[in-house]
Amino acid sequence: MDLKEKVKSLAEAQAQEIVDIRRHLHAHPELSFQEHETSKYVAERLKSFGITPTEGVADTGLTALIEGKNPQKKVIALRADMDALPIQEANDVPYKSTNNGVMHACGHDVHTSSLLGTAKVLNQLKGEFEGSVKLIFQPGEEKIPGGASLMIKAGALEAPKPNHIFGQHVLPHLPAGKVGFREGMYMASADEIYITVKGKGGHAAMPEKNIDPILITSHIIVALQQIVSRHASPKMPTVLSFGRVIAEGATNVIPNEVKVEGTFRTMDEEWRAKAHQRMKAIAESLTEGMGGSCEFEIRRGYPFLKNSPELTQRARNYAIDLLGNDNVVDLDLWLAAEDFSYYTQVADACFYRLGTGNEEKGITSSVHTPTFDIDEDALKVGVSLMSWITLQELKH
Ligand code: NI
Repeated sequence: MDLKEKVKSLAEAQAQEIVDIRRHLHAHPELSFQEHETSKYVAERLKSFGITPTEGVADTGLTALIEGKNPQKKVIALRADMDALPIQEANDVPYKSTNNGVMHACGHDVHTSSLLGTAKVLNQLKGEFEGSVKLIFQPGEEKIPGGASLMIKAGALEAPKPNHIFGQHVLPHLPAGKVGFREGMYMASADEIYITVKGKGGHAAMPEKNIDPILITSHIIVALQQIVSRHASPKMPTVLSFGRVIAEGATNVIPNEVKVEGTFRTMDEEWRAKAHQRMKAIAESLTEGMGGSCEFEIRRGYPFLKNSPELTQRARNYAIDLLGNDNVVDLDLWLAAEDFSYYTQVADACFYRLGTGNEEKGITSSVHTPTFDIDEDALKVGVSLMSWITLQELKH
């Protein structure tokens, strides 16, 4: 049997075990940076495969090393995130969340179980490859500052230092059986914007005696869109959205202040910094011109995510080799953010997507919704593809 057939049959042989692991994780979700039981469970599973994990990395994270022959030759890191979201699950399934108000609605249970499956496959094949595989199970992808940045600080990418790192994420609108890749720029940086516009409240019938923060805020919201239409290069994806405006006056009362919250997303660090400055300047000068004052705060989120073009091209070819041309698609830019971007800043990296949808089975809900679920047939694809990419890239 050649190596590809071995990978396929090992993935097939443990398919039910990986489904069971995914269901256990799904039924026992934990919020970001609180993944204590998940972490213990992952450690136990690894030990049962004969792999010794290093626990307590960045508190609830863990790493482990699978050494093949000539272990120093090349090191590939594989990453999964383990945290869940504050969402009440609405699915009526046997593996429904037992943790009230918490749900694996972003598929991190899938990423974790499929990395465990990959670990088991690769550990069984360690006599057949040269180099090492570093497993990274990280906490807190969903919450700033991002578990990835803490894992890096805790030394997850040192001793040994990986040559490349791979991560995967579920993609519900892509059918199970298919996977997607994108070379270069893929996901956005995401920053939170908080503006407080202060004026002087009073009777709405006497505007001349007040400084109306609502009118000032309206101007600010409209003016800030120039960041997208007049300042961003037409080549640079940029999003500015405000989702919360609080002004607690009344039909006849002008309030003292207005609070505004929004998100700014783009794909270039230099432009990101410049846009921050410009937005602040626009908001402050407009407010000043209208007699009010303004506090403009930006909380920086994750950086943008850039896939290594060469590595991603190779990974895409390994995927075609394993799954066939029809099952490998090109991805569009995605203006969501992901803390895997921290790894892409310090290592040669590739983040790809695992199709998990199935229209016939009615599995179509997006991530971050109470009805999100996956076609579990995708787990086998996740395991065999990650194993195959690793084995091929170790040889490269
Ligand atoms: Ni996610």
